[in-house]
Amino acid sequence: MVYDLTMLKTFYALYERKIERIRTILQRPLTLAEKILYAHLYDEKNVKNYKRGEDYVNFRPDRVAMQDATAQMALLQFMNAGRDEAAVPSTVHCDHLIQAYKGAKEDIATATKTNEEVYKFLRDVSSRYGIGFWQPGAGIIHQVVLENYAFPGGMMVGTDSHTPNAGGLGMVAIGVGGADAVDVMTGMEWELKMPRLIGVRLTGTLNGWAAPKDVILKLAGILTVKGGTNAIIEYFGSGTASLSATGKATICNMGAEVGATTSLFPYDERMAAYLKATGRAEVADMATAVAAGLRTDDEVVANPEKYYDRIIDIDLSTLEPYINGPFTPDAATPISEFSEKVLKNGYPRKMEVGLIGSCTNSSYQDLSRAVSLARQVTAKHLHVAAPLIVNPGSERIRATAERDGMIDAFEKIGATIMANACGPCIGQWKRVTDDPTRKNSIVTSFNRNFAKRADGNPNTYAFVASPELTMALTIAGDLCFNPLKDTLVNADGERVKLSEPVGEELPLKGFTAGSEGYTAPSNVKADIVVEPQSQRLQLLTPFPAWDGADLLNMPLLIKTQGKCTTDHISMAGPWLRFRGHLENISDNMLMGAVNAFNGETNKVWNRSTNTYGTVSGTAKLYKSEGIPSIVVAEENYGEGSSREHAAMEPRFLNVRTILAKSFARIHETNLKKQGMLALTFIDKADYDKIQEHDLLSVVGLKDFVPERNLTVVLHHEDGSQESFEVQHTYNEQQIGWFRAGSALNAR
Ligand code: F3S
Repeated sequence: MVYDLTMLKTFYALYERKIERIRTILQRPLTLAEKILYAHLYDEKNVKNYKRGEDYVNFRPDRVAMQDATAQMALLQFMNAGRDEAAVPSTVHCDHLIQAYKGAKEDIATATKTNEEVYKFLRDVSSRYGIGFWQPGAGIIHQVVLENYAFPGGMMVGTDSHTPNAGGLGMVAIGVGGADAVDVMTGMEWELKMPRLIGVRLTGTLNGWAAPKDVILKLAGILTVKGGTNAIIEYFGSGTASLSATGKATICNMGAEVGATTSLFPYDERMAAYLKATGRAEVADMATAVAAGLRTDDEVVANPEKYYDRIIDIDLSTLEPYINGPFTPDAATPISEFSEKVLKNGYPRKMEVGLIGSCTNSSYQDLSRAVSLARQVTAKHLHVAAPLIVNPGSERIRATAERDGMIDAFEKIGATIMANACGPCIGQWKRVTDDPTRKNSIVTSFNRNFAKRADGNPNTYAFVASPELTMALTIAGDLCFNPLKDTLVNADGERVKLSEPVGEELPLKGFTAGSEGYTAPSNVKADIVVEPQSQRLQLLTPFPAWDGADLLNMPLLIKTQGKCTTDHISMAGPWLRFRGHLENISDNMLMGAVNAFNGETNKVWNRSTNTYGTVSGTAKLYKSEGIPSIVVAEENYGEGSSREHAAMEPRFLNVRTILAKSFARIHETNLKKQGMLALTFIDKADYDKIQEHDLLSVVGLKDFVPERNLTVVLHHEDGSQESFEVQHTYNEQQIGWFRAGSALNAR
């Protein structure tokens, strides 16, 4: 048993009484998200009606999970926090650093060698501070958390944006930066703006080709990549019980793609069945005993308009399979309209690779439905037109799929089974292609499809879909194929149709454990060694405190144009190897961002040399000259992942301010935690006033208080000046972080 049963017994013993008390104080029925949030207030005495979208509230989450790419920086910060042990159960998962190339066995062997220093560091720090450690190949963080740690009514934070996956088991699970994880691991209050609530009412039952993934693909089209910002998406209605726990997890996982704080399903029998199948019958029994407290109150379900900030209806019975992309996960198209869109927009029609798996879609149900199509290839004398890659989500899933003949069925049609790890989902894919300059299409069952995300190639058009649709398109090798109505020509020259996918929700013979690769927290206080000459790891030096003056005459480092995700700010792929070395990884800063003045990436004007240089090189030169700089951006800056490197790199290179039209939630918090100024335009048209050779000042910092605007002054090259007000969302405590130089300094 890897979870803490004693902690869970205490939790469920107190849960009902807590909810009763909250309801009595607030004098109104509660949504499920409210029950869980209020049950986790840092100060239980402080129950009052917090204003959604406005009030900052302190919470006490139950757990922390960290993946290897973000854990390095989180643990380096934790080591500076002066604690002897993590205050709550915490785990590290080695899933991001394994490059997919030849197949699981060889790739894990290679990763173990190339990442030896980092893995040893993570293992030693875990051992030193009482943290559970999941070794490379054990599985992808969110799948492992769902199988072992998530519990209905719980609250956790994870240093990965898809942490909300655990909402499939009714847990409030939130993606955060490492500094936030450190707050929780040190037993301090963890702060979050009370989220707004979006209620999604599900009715009907999925059928045919439609899968749980299609619920969130459709919703992404409705909400767009910003629509869930500072909101929890809470699913309710009769349709919820028709979805498996893992299907619910898929939907919650991809809530990150609309910027939601997290997503959540009410407790039901499908969750109980999953808990039992994964060896947690006691948790299922305890949750069932307090089931009413793990669901939204009936009065809310009956009159949702009164209690949610927004309601969206989805009828599962009429839901079509969707395919979203390219380059953004909210470009949602039902399969019936997709071929027309492919032809109209000139997307490369040939489908070159199909990829199944990732944290989003690698449950037993996902694999079994996809394999039901793979088995039709032989039965119907078809051939598979495109290469297929499968990344199982965990060793438990892989071993069970192997026992049940699924791995064999995939391999029979030519699939490469990669490690139980992220691989291509995070750019860790050594893709073999004859011509990387050719525009090409891939379809994945993953969650994200930003440019270059999977293979680092800007010419790759990536689309996301359910595993079953991905499988069908892989067989056809044609983006215009609609398996619901189209036929394929088989080896006998006959036209055949793929039958609808079928699959088991849970393995009939139960899960088999495989060799799971878990090391429990120990009391061995291993020495932590970080060699000064290491290229992979570097101890952190605290950022300097604010000097008390306004930020004057900052050169514009870059004015970015269009989408600027955390992938654009701090690329993954080959750069993942420097995630524990702030100085080295800072060389990738903003290299994917488009310069609004020349439309190019990683090419900005350097006022010290009057030449064009890379973004990081330019910032480095300014830093060496003691000059702070500023970045200007458009909407939803920092969309995507929780990686705090995207905030720490600019801070390290002496960028003091990010001025954007709007920010993604996790990234805005990360900037604040690292002592940066994150400001937004009041009048978005002011973005257009900023010229390439401008110097910018931020004034009013001596009176930096909550809800008071600051002023930005533009000093144009011709000697003229103009100014405008900008706003911020800092509260008192966050202003303290700015003054101290970072949240860590302010402890
Ligand atoms: Fe891994 Fe899932 Fe992120 S597969 S890269 S945890 S999206």
